Amino acid sequence: MQTVTFISNSPEETFQLGCDLGRRACRGHVFGLFGDMGAGKTVFVKGLAVGLEITETVSSPTYGLVSNYAGGRLNLFHLDLYRLDTPEQIYAAGLEEYLQPQGVSAIEWMERWVDLEEGRVIKVYFEDRSETERMIRYDGFSH
Ligand SMILES: Nc1ncnc2c1ncn2[C@@H]1O[C@H](COP(=O)(O)OP(=O)(O)OP(=O)(O)O)[C@@H](O)[C@H]1O
Ligand SMILES: [Mg+2]
Repeated sequence: MQTVTFISNSPEETFQLGCDLGRRACRGHVFGLFGDMGAGKTVFVKGLAVGLEITETVSSPTYGLVSNYAGGRLNLFHLDLYRLDTPEQIYAAGLEEYLQPQGVSAIEWMERWVDLEEGRVIKVYFEDRSETERMIRYDGFSH
């Protein structure tokens, strides 16, 4: 799969990238988001939701692992694995279903997922280049 590199110079540009990919997303797509704190993963998911025509505003799933947003073209499942420290916790959390979602999944801190199979996830890597610049690399996808 070819990798696309996108340079974002503002939160708005990262939001817009999410929005574009949300418009192109299909049922069953999983976006696995990698990158440090403050790299822009949640900003991207906010755009993804808008691209999926979800009207509710996305916020970080602080208290649970998963937030579900309905009412759009497809359901969005937003996960944040930051709090999962051990492989046992990952397995116990029973998150496998979100790799074959009835809708679209966006999973922050995908690096925590211990046994990620190649090819099942559209990987999106966020890298801080400066205060406002982010390099975002993602697996190109079609259909
Ligand atoms: N080009 C950019 N793209 C995205 N965010 C940017 C950019 N430039 C600056 N920012 C700022 O960086 C922060 C990104 O926050 P965000 O919550 O999206 O990060 P995150 O990757 O989800 O972090 P966490 O791992 O803590 O959940 C925001 O405060 C945003 O305003
Ligand atoms: Mg976040």
